[in-house]
Amino acid sequence: MLPKINPTTTQAWLLLKKHFDDEISRTKISDLFKKDTERFSKFSISFDDILFDFSKNLITEKTMQLLRSLAEDCQVKSAIDAMFNGESINETENRAVLHTALRNFSGNPVMVDGKDVMPDVQRVLQQMKSFAEKVHSGEWKGYTGKKIKYIVNIGIGGSDLGPVMVTEALKPYWIEGIEPYFVSNVDGTHIAETLKKVNPEETLFLIASKTFTTQETMTNAHTARSWFLEAAKNESEIAKHFVALSTNEKAVAQFGIDTANMFEFWDWVGGRYSLWSAIGLSIVLTIGYDHFEALLKGAYKTDEHFKTAPLDKNIPVIMAVLGIWYINFLKAQTQVILPYDQYLHRFAAYFQQGDMESNGKSIDRKGDEVSYKTGPVIWGEPGTNGQHAFYQLIHQGTILIPADFIAPAISHNPIGDHHLKLMSNFFAQTEALMNGKDEKTVREELKAAGKTDEEIKKLTPFKVFKGNKPTNSFLIKAITPETLGSLIALYEHKIFVQGIIWNIFSFDQWGVELGKQLAGQILPELENNEEVSAHDCSTNGLINKFKEMRK
Ligand code: F6P
Repeated sequence: MLPKINPTTTQAWLLLKKHFDDEISRTKISDLFKKDTERFSKFSISFDDILFDFSKNLITEKTMQLLRSLAEDCQVKSAIDAMFNGESINETENRAVLHTALRNFSGNPVMVDGKDVMPDVQRVLQQMKSFAEKVHSGEWKGYTGKKIKYIVNIGIGGSDLGPVMVTEALKPYWIEGIEPYFVSNVDGTHIAETLKKVNPEETLFLIASKTFTTQETMTNAHTARSWFLEAAKNESEIAKHFVALSTNEKAVAQFGIDTANMFEFWDWVGGRYSLWSAIGLSIVLTIGYDHFEALLKGAYKTDEHFKTAPLDKNIPVIMAVLGIWYINFLKAQTQVILPYDQYLHRFAAYFQQGDMESNGKSIDRKGDEVSYKTGPVIWGEPGTNGQHAFYQLIHQGTILIPADFIAPAISHNPIGDHHLKLMSNFFAQTEALMNGKDEKTVREELKAAGKTDEEIKKLTPFKVFKGNKPTNSFLIKAITPETLGSLIALYEHKIFVQGIIWNIFSFDQWGVELGKQLAGQILPELENNEEVSAHDCSTNGLINKFKEMRK
């Protein structure tokens, strides 16, 4: 059981509020650097090939002490143990939360309801490995005897975003002769455009769905099945071209997939934490099992760090409490993730689900409405593209947007001076966000540019940057399967710690259900020509106009 502590009633919360009002509200990050030349070494942590620099935050040593006390008051440490020990911490679904077991290389058992889950985890990993080897070697053949070339993963949410993000991030590791595709949207365009790029003889469909009931995935899977059968003609050939990644054996069999071709996972793997499970088969097929194992090992290293590092040296805990500092004490409502690596272009989108589906909650663990802010809006795009799109608002807008900057020191594509130019932007942005530009500097610059006094007076307010915008920097030696695994796990655990402190359940997602239910009710109303009157007048009006437009 997780603790059920309202964080606002803790001593640390009250002290943090006072600390903000009395000290931090008048503090500038740039002044803190001027006062303390050791600030970088005090507020940065090296973890294998990752340097986490959190010194450009609006924090002092006292802030960090108080934030650590908040984590202590909210019993973060015992919550971490409860998760790793397989307790049913997902109380509303009565499930353990054990994505960490999927990457457990300790050799120790992980018990769920008195049973060690590790033999099953290893069995499925072995199944994924030997299946991928057969596909890669050509031993696994399509119905006309050809080798598999195209992998089409059909899944949505957690059964899509993780594999998409990881395969994109690890493109330099792609196995020659394999092309992965991902179909998620129920919009027929997604599958139609994908099927144009592949052919039935060389395509393997992975139907990825924890529940095997998700409307989008099942609809796309049936369309893929019909498309395949149009060419193959014979249902007995399906076994060579369709496999399932699921927890629901019965539904897999009903769909017509031989359960021998099912890669199992378990209800203690949350959808948005499932890339480490059988849901990662598209990753294994794309980059090979050894690289997938390196990804798991990277995550395992983070798990060990998270389990054992003291709270004030624990990267996910620090990431979490900094987020809480901004959301609950400085009224930030959003957080941006900015990878300076084109291969990480889906990283922010991945954690949009990871974070927002986990901590987008307003009911606490006692079942009461919370009186404080919880999960922020997560978004982001790779640098430097974002700089030419939305950074303006981060620099000079009216809302506070704490930013995570992520970049590799070594590029997989060392062409000319591209990487140095990219990195010069990475370093420049965090510095500029912190320092801003004061009025005096603006005036001097305008004068040097030959502007008249009148022009200087007019332009100055627009060119002043207040600065004091907080950032974290993750400098990673290179984006490899291992460092990526570590990085993903850091963010996963950050989300966990925030959920613990906010006293919410991070591993259910009841909020997604309402839309699903209503769409299920409306679908039959769209399938006939009758006028609809069962809804509010806006919904009725839209549905009726839709029907009219289609006549
Ligand atoms: O969006 C809701 C959700 O349940 C996610 O949590 C999940 O990742 C996704 O749908 C897909 O679910 P499934 O894997 O069961 O098809």
